[in-house]
Amino acid sequence: MEINKVMVIGAGQMGSGIAQVCAQAGFAVKLNDMKEEFCQKGLGVIAKNLARNVEKGRMTEEEKTTILARITPSLDLQDASNVDIVIEAAVENMEIKRSIFGRLDEIAPQHAILASNTSSLPITEIAAATTRPEKVIGMHFMNPVPVMKLVEIIRGLATTDEVYQAVEEMTVKLSKTPVEVNDFPGFVSNRILMPMINEAIYTLYEGVATKEAIDEVMKLGMNHPMGPLQLADFIGLDTCLYIMEVLHEGFGDSKYRPCPLLRKYVSAGWLGKKSGRGFYIYE
Ligand code: CAA
Repeated sequence: MEINKVMVIGAGQMGSGIAQVCAQAGFAVKLNDMKEEFCQKGLGVIAKNLARNVEKGRMTEEEKTTILARITPSLDLQDASNVDIVIEAAVENMEIKRSIFGRLDEIAPQHAILASNTSSLPITEIAAATTRPEKVIGMHFMNPVPVMKLVEIIRGLATTDEVYQAVEEMTVKLSKTPVEVNDFPGFVSNRILMPMINEAIYTLYEGVATKEAIDEVMKLGMNHPMGPLQLADFIGLDTCLYIMEVLHEGFGDSKYRPCPLLRKYVSAGWLGKKSGRGFYIYE
């Protein structure tokens, strides 16, 4: 099962990062989104990241040009007709993902692997929208993709060893570290990270400390690169709430109850860095 040609669906923060690391590793990449402007925005971010690598002397201008030339924008899912793997990084919505996977199943070659970068949705349920559940797998990259080393690889109920191995090998080629996990709500990363973030929000909600103090405790006391409230802003408060809801519903356990303050911020449109305001204000 050799992987050479990749299609990434979604040219947003995660999708463009995934396309970048794939192109840097030598894969031919189609970067698909619904509108030309979304693809161009994603390509712009990639070009900027690569330019920084040139400035820092980690890459030549020629290498940058070669990497960028490996990425072709795509506006049509039909372009999946000759790829070896599709990595879907579209919006976190089960209906949308199932519809994308159903169409990809009709378009992509029989041998193609269909991977999802979902942060918490069940891979098994996404796989059930296809006639090839054995070739459906989770490939959960961390944000910012070019910097973070981990790819959490999630086996759906039907995923075969052969498919798992091909994805693990590809992850190593991307200079990332694969970690194998099974398909349960939040997998491993978000089952542990999100309750910590949610608890930090409860700590603020109950007036135990200021947001700055909470972040400082976790940064200096636990050696985390960012405090949990700053990290929540960075991930997006809507995403944090969504993942807490997946955990709450998936396990039916009140320990995963999203903090009311998190709900309030999301209803106010204070979504974190991307909206200019979350727990902190961003210019
Ligand atoms: N894209 C590309 N490169 C980036 C970047 C981005 N968005 N953000 C930062 N970088 C690069 C910088 O350019 C810099 O590279 P150089 O050394 O070449 O200059 C390097 O990363 C370090 O950046 P900074 O010096 O600006 O800042 P920093 O040292 O604070 O690091 C950070 C930034 C890597 C984001 C760090 O703060 C960090 O690790 N934060 C935690 C990130 C984290 O926990 N991510 C997981 C989120 S959860 C998730 O993704 C899963 C989910 O499902 C929700």
